Formats: sequence, C-alpha cells, structure tokens
Amino acid sequence: MPNRIKQEIDRLKSERGAVILAHSYQPGNIQDIADFVGDSLELSRIAASESAELVVFCGVKFMAETAKLLSPDSTVVLAAPDADCSLAACMSGDDLRQMKNRFPGAEAVIYVNSTIDLKSEAWSCCTSANSIEVVEAAPSDEVIFGPDRNLGTWVAENTNKKLHIWPGGCHAHSGADIRDLREKKAEWPDARVLVHPESPSVFLWEADQVLGTGGMIKYVKNSTADRFIIGTEEGMIYRLKTLFPDKEFKAAGNIVCPDMGYTTPELVLKALESRGNGIEIPAELADRAAAAVRRMTQTG
Ligand code: 13P
Repeated sequence: MPNRIKQEIDRLKSERGAVILAHSYQPGNIQDIADFVGDSLELSRIAASESAELVVFCGVKFMAETAKLLSPDSTVVLAAPDADCSLAACMSGDDLRQMKNRFPGAEAVIYVNSTIDLKSEAWSCCTSANSIEVVEAAPSDEVIFGPDRNLGTWVAENTNKKLHIWPGGCHAHSGADIRDLREKKAEWPDARVLVHPESPSVFLWEADQVLGTGGMIKYVKNSTADRFIIGTEEGMIYRLKTLFPDKEFKAAGNIVCPDMGYTTPELVLKALESRGNGIEIPAELADRAAAAVRRMTQTG
C-alpha cells in the first residue's frame, strides 16, 4: 500500500474519531490497517462497547448493519458498499414468518449472517462462536434455525433440542471439495485440521476440530502442533500467519468469498473522507433486530 494512503488514513482516523474494524476474512493489507481484527462476535462486542463517532467496517453488509444496531449513535460506513453475503440472501423475514406458523412452539435463532428483516423476527441471533449456547438458552424445546443448513446441522448434533433448519448456505463454504482436503491431509499427515461449521458435513467428519474463526485462533494458540489445515475463507490464513509466524498453515481447499475481497485501502480512505454511505436501519425494524443481536452479544 502506498505510504501516502496509510498516512492519510491515520490522519483522518484521529481527526474524525474513527475506528476501523475488520473481519479475519479481509485481505491482508486491510487487516494491517485495522484497529481491531476479529470474528463476527468479537467485532459485534467491540461495536457495542466503543463509542466512536465513525466506524469504518471492513467486511460485508450484515456485519456493518450489526455494528449499527449495537451502536446506533455512531455513523457506521461499510468500506466496500457493494460487499454483501450470499448466505444472508438465502432467507427472508417472510420465510421465517411461515416457519413460525408451521412450528408455533419453536423460538427462532438466526445466524448473524442475515438481513435486518430476518433478524427482527428472531428470538436471538448467534454467530458460529456461540450458536450452541444460544440454542441451549432459547426458552423452547424446539428451535427454528437459519439461514445456514450446515451450521444448523452441526448445532443439532450438539444439543438435545429439536431443530427445524432452513436450507440455506454460504456459496464459498458449500462449494468446498472434500478431495482438496484429502489431498492436503496426504501432504501434511501431521497437521491438525480445523474446519468452520458453515462447511459441508463431510468436512466436519474429517476435521480434528470444528470452530469459528475466533475459535481457530484460540485453538492454534494453545496447541503444541506446528502445522494446521484450515477449512474456511482464505483471508483467515493471512490472519493466522500474522499471529503465529512460527507455525505453518495451508488452506483446506479453494474457499474464497469474492465480496470479502472488495475492500481496498483506497475505499477505506474514501469512507473516512466522505462519511458517506452510512448504514441506515429501517425504523420499524430497528428495536426488534437490535434486541436479537444484543441477546447474541450477551450469550456465550
Ligand atoms: P465467524 O463468526 O467465525 O467470524 O465467521 C463469519 C462468517 O461470516 C463465516 O462465513
């Protein structure tokens, strides 16, 4: 990144009381300029506790919306305004209203990778880091879960509650090919295999650990192993290499989210300069969606 852009970002950040948040899937040069890099739950908790005038979010739309729900007095700008999430588009608020009619005794736990409309119909949101805990905490024996079927299936295997799962999926994780993982295991037979629960079930069966991105970092930190095969979006490899330069990491397959790659240093600078494209939450949905994400940040 040109030095001039880095200097301008630093200058505008302090001038405007801004904070830059980046998800661990972001490109390496964006992770390097962020004030905080983290998983969905950590970034939500930071957004709720920081009282920054301006939050520049480097990630995808649902992440910036979640930050705005938790920090309504801040201006929250998504650095790459076109960055959306294939999974969030899989299920609408109407879909959940229909499921509630079909399963009237069941509370709804909705993955944070979702639209505001869907969140506003949920008892609580969750992330991959606390999905089991949130489902366990729901005040019903049956739980509606969406939009991710792979995460839902994994949660169902780890709870005694009965789950009714919406059949959505993340394009990047769902498209992963198990033959790639087997090839990597043959190359590094001593490596630990860490897989995100949005991956297809066969990946989970062949993994040593099923973990969200924050869980992967904690696991590597406490592990005596030197090599790890990582089954999630490729940005995570950069994050792990930065944190643990003495360990080795290899991607389990070609898991790439194009939208996560949209953010550039130039767009971060533009977001700081313009304060434009601030996230707006429809007033009629804001209170209920905020309650669902607040419950998420307070669980697990
Ligand atoms: P984490 O909650 O593990 O950060 O994952 C976020 C995500 O969007 C997965 O696709």
